[in-house]
Amino acid sequence: TGYITMDQGYANTGSCVSNITFIDGEEGVLRYRGYNIEDLCEHSTFTEVSYLLLHNRLPTLEQRENFSLLLNQHSLLHEDMRHLYNFFPRDAHPMNILGTMVNAMSSFYTNVDLLSMREHIDMTATRLISKIRTTACYAYKKSIGHPVVYPKKDLKYCENFLRMMFWSPVNNYELRDDHVRALSVLLILHADHEQNCSTSTVRLVGSAHANLYASISAGISALWGPLHGGANQAVMDMLAKIERHGGKIQKYIDMAKDKDSSFRLSGFGHRVYKNYDPRAKIIKKICMKMLEEEAAHQPLLDIALRLEEAVLKDDYFLSRKLYPNVDFYSGLVYTALGFPTNMFTVLFAIGRMPGWIAHWKEMVRDPKARIGRPRQIYTGMRERQYLPIEQRT
Ligand code: CMC
Repeated sequence: TGYITMDQGYANTGSCVSNITFIDGEEGVLRYRGYNIEDLCEHSTFTEVSYLLLHNRLPTLEQRENFSLLLNQHSLLHEDMRHLYNFFPRDAHPMNILGTMVNAMSSFYTNVDLLSMREHIDMTATRLISKIRTTACYAYKKSIGHPVVYPKKDLKYCENFLRMMFWSPVNNYELRDDHVRALSVLLILHADHEQNCSTSTVRLVGSAHANLYASISAGISALWGPLHGGANQAVMDMLAKIERHGGKIQKYIDMAKDKDSSFRLSGFGHRVYKNYDPRAKIIKKICMKMLEEEAAHQPLLDIALRLEEAVLKDDYFLSRKLYPNVDFYSGLVYTALGFPTNMFTVLFAIGRMPGWIAHWKEMVRDPKARIGRPRQIYTGMRERQYLPIEQRT
């Protein structure tokens, strides 16, 4: 095996060249297409950042208007797809529904071969970014047994999203500007993160020339894992559990440090960031501001703050450079917006959609791209003699 370099978990293996996202993990810097995440969060919307990731430039006013218009035009789901929701059990996880629906889009929308997809990539991108949101809201409405809410053409991306989620013919749900803005910023912060597990999955599946819907559906499955996007749900479950056990954080810290236990503190640590995750910094600020007036969410925020403080003083975490990551505070904000816990990872997927597509687009346009095919170090038996079934013991 002499020529195979072992790199478990691909910690040091560059799998492609990319000009989409820059991360300096030591300094805690994140940039999309050269723009600092802090500037994008302050001045841009999720729609604008999606355009930036897909086209490598911030849109002009006219380009942004056109893109918004297209997103609205593509926001409906094929009516026949609604039947598919009826086959899921009522308590199905929305991430499962999401992955299935995105995969099913390969059958409902045409031009799925690589050549047509490359040619129609902008249309497919718009379709995916817009429809994933409608798909998610339908999954939620199905889970609570309510009729679906159709998108409205005079609303912007995040406004439509919140309305499709929470409006019903018998409530008085009204959009709040601060909620729309918070959602937009959180989606911006999830929009891309270079070669993470789900993006690498999208690239790997896509490298076999599988269509974009199928590739992204695979990325959604990867994201669902609790070590990746599923961590935002795991954090809230953990904070709620700590609260039920009388707010005793030390027990959980000790459990996370215990090498005989597989328990980890969800929302801490990162493969690339060896410093405070810059996304977590921004989300923490939003969280503090939003939850200031929301007494109902105070106990969990209080536990989160105490947990962070204790972790940042503890040698185990300090020596391993384990800091809060993007998933630590996001769930508290989602809860304040009204989202149930099982929708958190779905929100991550909606945010990550433009990033996944940008990477797929970059890969299929790269003349040097090849099918992904890692090697291994084989540790099994060299050769065994085959025995007929009667002679086996
Ligand atoms: N709690 C306790 N110990 C931890 C944690 C944690 N959250 N994270 C890492 N460690 C320890 C780990 O046990 C190891 O210790 P030792 O050197 O004694 O063996 C050391 O720190 C290095 O960890 P690793 O597993 O080699 O690191 P990795 O780069 O393979 O894993 C990670 C990164 C994010 C999967 C991991 O930190 C983790 O499991 N965190 C909790 C889950 C989580 O919050 N995931 C979200 C990540 S950010 C968003 C996203 O990517 O979706």
